[in-house]
Amino acid sequence: MVISHPSRSVMRKATAIIKSGGIVAFPTETVYGLGADAFNPLAVARIFEAKNRPLFDPLIVHIADLSQMEALASRVDKRAGRLAGRFWPGPLTMVMPRSERVPDIVTAGLNTVAVRMPDHLIALELIRSSGTPIAAPSANRFGYISPTKAAHVLDQLGERVDMIIDGGDCSVGVESTIIKLDEGRNVILRPGGVPVEEIEAVIGPVTMAAPSAGNPEAPGQLPSHYSPSIPVRLADGIASIDFSRGDAGYLLYRDPGFAVPAVRTEILSPGGDLQEAAANLFSALHRLDRMPIAVIIAEPVPEQGLGIAIMDRLRKASRGGSRE
Ligand code: TXA
Ligand code: MG
Repeated sequence: MVISHPSRSVMRKATAIIKSGGIVAFPTETVYGLGADAFNPLAVARIFEAKNRPLFDPLIVHIADLSQMEALASRVDKRAGRLAGRFWPGPLTMVMPRSERVPDIVTAGLNTVAVRMPDHLIALELIRSSGTPIAAPSANRFGYISPTKAAHVLDQLGERVDMIIDGGDCSVGVESTIIKLDEGRNVILRPGGVPVEEIEAVIGPVTMAAPSAGNPEAPGQLPSHYSPSIPVRLADGIASIDFSRGDAGYLLYRDPGFAVPAVRTEILSPGGDLQEAAANLFSALHRLDRMPIAVIIAEPVPEQGLGIAIMDRLRKASRGGSRE
């Protein structure tokens, strides 16, 4: 498998692969996705196979144009219209009542479908030229750290995919925020690239769904996820981290203002900027996961704005433990 740079001929080839039922890894502003024609159940099945993803975990369907919603959702309520107007294209996924046309394998048999319009030229062009919405999870092995570079996809999925389009580093770095719009209730199923506070400013108060293996509202939100092979421990704060350990790597939010073991330390944002920290999170975890260390000790970040999504990923990573 080679990584392809997005020339015109590469985009033509990627389009032909999607149209003929293949699977293509492509960049979005959040993380790399592994895409297939959302209306081709056999193609979508190949995604589950490539990722070792359980079939109970539904996929997000990516669109390039609002008109594509008609074939996916049976009803688009006012709140969805307002959120789309404010945040699309962008890192927001909306769970809505599904149309009969969406294959069951995409929705894991639920009566809802998750839809998002990504804010990335390559993703949008691939959807447009393929002439179909593209179902795509993050392009990682199930349970492992999400990819924010083409090389991450190559490492994890390699020959299991038909093509990898390299669009450089993902600018947002954490997955989309997922919101379910129920009767009179707005439920955040996964915090992500659009801060919860910004959503509330548009549609009013939201509630956070508790992540749990048995929560039918959030089938893919297992308590453990995003896990490196090396165990992650989430510290209480910078002051409680023991920097004298020779067998540990450190994932810090910001420059602590004192000397740390430089080779084994990743600083997400020296000046303490949550957006920058989110963009660097998964790359830093990938780098630490390649080091000869026994544990990754992580500093918590402030739980506001994108910090809510970062802490969600760190908590899930810390419940993972070694798996490969
Ligand atoms: O930023 C993103 O959302 C990336 C890029 C590629 O777009 N995609 C992504 O997909 O993170 P994935 O498959 O890794 O996570 C999608 C989550 C899963 O936890 C899944 O359970 C949930 O979305 N989901 C999908 N359809 C759903 C539905 N109908 N109801 C509830 N949750 C749903
Ligand atoms: Mg994922």
